Amino acid sequence: MTRLLSYLYPITKKIHSEFSGNLEITWYNGKKYLNTKNANYSYGSLQKILKFGLEHIDVSKVNSVLLLGLGGGSVIETLRDDFHYSKSITAVDIDPVIIDIAKNEFQLKEDEHLKIICADALDFMQSNTTQFDLIIIDLFIDITVPNAFLALPFWKNILKASSTNGAILFNASLEKTKSTALNDVIEFLKSHMYHTEVFEKVNNTNTLILSKGL
Ligand SMILES: C[S@@+](CC[C@H](N)C(=O)[O-])C[C@H]1O[C@@H](n2cnc3c(N)ncnc32)[C@H](O)[C@@H]1O
Repeated sequence: MTRLLSYLYPITKKIHSEFSGNLEITWYNGKKYLNTKNANYSYGSLQKILKFGLEHIDVSKVNSVLLLGLGGGSVIETLRDDFHYSKSITAVDIDPVIIDIAKNEFQLKEDEHLKIICADALDFMQSNTTQFDLIIIDLFIDITVPNAFLALPFWKNILKASSTNGAILFNASLEKTKSTALNDVIEFLKSHMYHTEVFEKVNNTNTLILSKGL
C-alpha cells in the first residue's frame, strides 16, 4: 500500500541516529531510499555512483569484498543483481541504527556470504589481518567524509588489506574541488604501484577514485 501511495506523494519515516542525525526512509515512485538531511545515503544517486565505479572493475574475478560504510546496503544489491556477485562480503558500519535499517527496511540478511560488523572503520582497519580482492570505501557522515579517512595511516592499512591485483573503490567527496588531503591520498596510491583513476562529477556530484594493483 505504502509503495502504491508513493506514486502519488513521497512517504517519509524519520529515525534518529547518534552519528548521522535524522535519517529519512522515503518511499518515492515505488522505490525506497535512505537519506540524511542533506545527502542520499543509499538506493538513489549514491547507488548509481558506486555502480559507475564497479563497471570499471572485472567483478567476475573478485572472490572477496570489504565494504566500509554499509548504509542501507545498496551497493550489495548492485553487486548481486547487476554484477551477479555471489561470493563473500564483509560490511562495516559504525552506526547500529543504520545496521538495523539495512536489515529491517532493506531486507539485508547476514549469512555465510554476508558478514556485518558494527565498528568504526578506522579501528577495524587497524586490527584487520585479512586481504580482500575488492575494497569499497563509502564513509560519510551526512555530506562529509570524516578527516581520518583522508589521512595516510588509514590508507596504509587499506593497502595492507588489498590482495595483489586487488581493486579499491573510494567514494571520495561531494565537494566540487579536490582537497589537498584527497590529492595526497591520490599521490600515495599512485606511488605505491597502484593504477589510479580519478572520476570527477560522477552523476554530476561525486569524486570517485579507483585504484587497481599492478
Ligand atoms: C553513504 S552511506 C553508505 C552507503 C552504502 N555504501 C550503500 O551502498 O548503500 C555512509 C555510511 O558510512 C558510515 N560511516 C561513517 N563514518 C563511519 C566510520 N567511522 N566507521 C564506519 N562507518 C562509518 C555511516 O554510518 C553511513 O552508513
